[in-house]
Amino acid sequence: MCGIIGYIGDRKASEVLISGLSHLEYRGYDSSGVALMKGSDVQIFKAQGKLNNLIEILKDKQDTCSNAHIGIGHIRWATHGLPTTINAHPHTCDCKNLTLVHNGIIENYQELKEELTTLGCHFVSQTDTEVAAHLIAHEYGKTKNLLKAMQSAVKKIKGAFAFCAIHKNEPDRIVVAKRNAPLVIGVGQDENFIASDIPAIIEYTKKAIYLSDGQVGIVKKNSIEIYDENDLVTQNKIENLPFEAIAISKMGYKHFMLKEIHEQSDVVRNVLSGKLLSHDDKIRLEEFKLTPEKIKKIQRVQIVACGTSLHAGMVGKYIIEKYAGIPVDVEPSSEYIYRETIADENTLVIGISQSGETADTITAIKQVKEKNSHIIIITNRADSTMARLADSLLPVSAGIEVSVAATKSYMAQLISLYMLAIYLMEQKGIEKYNDEIVNLKQELIELPNKVEALLENTDNIKQLAKKYSSYKDFIFIARGINFPSALEGALKLKEISYINATGYGAGELKHGPIAMLDENMPVLAILNRGIVYDKVLSNCEEAKARQAKLIGVADYIASKDKDLFDDIVIIPSVSDTLSPALNIIVLQLLAYYIAEYLGKDVDQPRNLAKSVTVE
Ligand code: F6R
Repeated sequence: MCGIIGYIGDRKASEVLISGLSHLEYRGYDSSGVALMKGSDVQIFKAQGKLNNLIEILKDKQDTCSNAHIGIGHIRWATHGLPTTINAHPHTCDCKNLTLVHNGIIENYQELKEELTTLGCHFVSQTDTEVAAHLIAHEYGKTKNLLKAMQSAVKKIKGAFAFCAIHKNEPDRIVVAKRNAPLVIGVGQDENFIASDIPAIIEYTKKAIYLSDGQVGIVKKNSIEIYDENDLVTQNKIENLPFEAIAISKMGYKHFMLKEIHEQSDVVRNVLSGKLLSHDDKIRLEEFKLTPEKIKKIQRVQIVACGTSLHAGMVGKYIIEKYAGIPVDVEPSSEYIYRETIADENTLVIGISQSGETADTITAIKQVKEKNSHIIIITNRADSTMARLADSLLPVSAGIEVSVAATKSYMAQLISLYMLAIYLMEQKGIEKYNDEIVNLKQELIELPNKVEALLENTDNIKQLAKKYSSYKDFIFIARGINFPSALEGALKLKEISYINATGYGAGELKHGPIAMLDENMPVLAILNRGIVYDKVLSNCEEAKARQAKLIGVADYIASKDKDLFDDIVIIPSVSDTLSPALNIIVLQLLAYYIAEYLGKDVDQPRNLAKSVTVE
């Protein structure tokens, strides 16, 4: 969360910074700010709320904006202190000579603040970043050198940071530092760029240097110098950025979320491409680096992920356990990292993350790396921190996902997990499910067409959204492989509409949640044909007996059962095993249309950020 940006060159810095920040808005939108430097003059502009508020302020400052060719900027997701202008970055020290933007969390900021206060520093904000600004300025007082000040300050800081700092006495440079927060330096011709993520700079350059943890750098117009954690000069590789400058536009859709939901048929095609060629071919997964012999030795699988990615992992458990015959534990990364986990060289650890930057999952992966387990990373960002930790990297290539609510990346993760489960089964030589797998592969090949068929006419879901948008609470139920779909459907609804929605295993309803049911509680039940169909139907009867409004999502409901439901959405016919991939689209659309009907900020829901880089 939070995004930082820096520019040094001949362009108008304000334009590069604002354009960059607009591509980082997915990382937070509580406030934004820029510092523009011309010679020893530094002007700071900040605004609470969305980036547009800052853009409005800058409209009246054209003189400053035209003349400054060096600057740093920030977009905030509040961690310490309210989302106010005073807490917005950039932050400065008492003498205002040093200006700083920061992504991350400084864990020992209270201690540092106390020390700096006794040294006479005054603080105006509640942020940890202001403490870092004072600390670096204090160190500057000792050496009169911004690089050295940064190098000694970061040694005193505990926690995560990506910093960009400028100093009035050194107007030809931006000094940067990184630990456990992403930072990339875009390499240009007579200009250089700094950003938390490449979409912010991709329109200017295709070459970049990724800073490693512990590194500090000086970025000038014509040079970049990097120092390692021992303060020695080091060389980082200049890498070609992995994607073309893409017009990230809504393509006529009202919101990115709707566009991304509609992209899911292509997403499935992309993930299958080159891996699944025909129903009677084996899965090709060149990215998976374990030999068949080593695969046969895998004793357990551990999946770590958060939020929507965690729900994909839960579907993964069903299919890996069934087809590959390996026990699978799925756990939120934030829990995994605070207990003694048992993993060894015969454990396969799968980290799933759209962004590849989720701090909890990165920590989990780093912890388990020390245990010699093989680590697979399933991510939408092959250039991310997590991708760099992988022994086997499975990029899902869903394309940039702008909407904060994950949709198409979930689909890509699901399909990747189907590929992985079948691959493990085939490499282990398990034959028990051969016939079923031939059918599943054929279904996967046909899935993009079914996704398109489902998305062709969504009027019924729009009507449902209107009908149910006034309810304050919602329950989603399912059993078996669709239990994670119920959790994910509830998450989608609550995060963008702020309706209190909860997912349950349908069989759990009677163990407590049923107490909440009455005519004011809609229950959405997912019931695909399969071993749990009748059981879910019974759970629906129990809900109906408590007068709950009942919505069924299914590929088939027998005529005799239809009267039980107030509303039904029928999806294209699909096996129970693959049904999570179609059911979820209905739930994504329902959440979308409810939020849209309620006039919510669908793509940027309150309090959220797309990349959660703090623990
Ligand atoms: C929900 C959502 C979040 C993320 C979670 C993990 O729509 O997007 O729950 O899934 O923050 O993020 P990644 O997948 O980037 O690790």
